[in-house]
Amino acid sequence: MRHLLVYFGKYGTTANSARIIQETIGKSCDTATPDGEKVKVIRGYDSLIIGTAIYRGRVPSAITAFIQENRTILNSRRLSFFIHCLEPKLAFERMRSAMGDQLFEHGQFKAVLGGRVHLDQHNFITRQILKRKGKNTGLNFKNYDSTSLEGTIDFARQILDNFK
Ligand SMILES: Cc1cc2nc3c(=O)[nH]c(=O)nc-3n(C[C@H](O)[C@H](O)[C@H](O)COP(=O)(O)O)c2cc1C
Repeated sequence: MRHLLVYFGKYGTTANSARIIQETIGKSCDTATPDGEKVKVIRGYDSLIIGTAIYRGRVPSAITAFIQENRTILNSRRLSFFIHCLEPKLAFERMRSAMGDQLFEHGQFKAVLGGRVHLDQHNFITRQILKRKGKNTGLNFKNYDSTSLEGTIDFARQILDNFK
């Protein structure tokens, strides 16, 4: 089975997980960003994996546009997705809003893989947004990382073991 992992994230967490998942699944898995060349040949893949981060309560438009444009194909292939964020309890609902109920339910393997924030990486305005989120969630985002290499590899193995 051929897998295409389409991912989008702004600060490296999602891209890093995409790389780990690709390496775990092996050469039957390609990776692409929503605006990349491989997305044009999405029909040639049997299994599609979507990876995204959440920003300001939403799945970014690069991913929602990709889903919108490829809804029929996504529905007719094996589908999995993973999410990076700081509020894991809200992650699936946010993904469900972005995908719609039917496509969300079509997804077989779904994982929330934690989130990473390094305040120093961001400009003043983004730091203020993140500090506010830190206050609301009780988390300290100066150097925050709830991702787990093991969790990411587990997600990839589920896909590898079940979609042969
Ligand atoms: C500007 C900004 C806004 C964010 N908003 C949310 C949010 O509303 N909810 C949430 O759970 N996580 C939020 N996050 C956390 C990100 O989803 C998390 O840091 C993730 O690891 C980022 O992935 P990336 O490194 O691939 O961009 C936000 C992060 C940033 C930088």
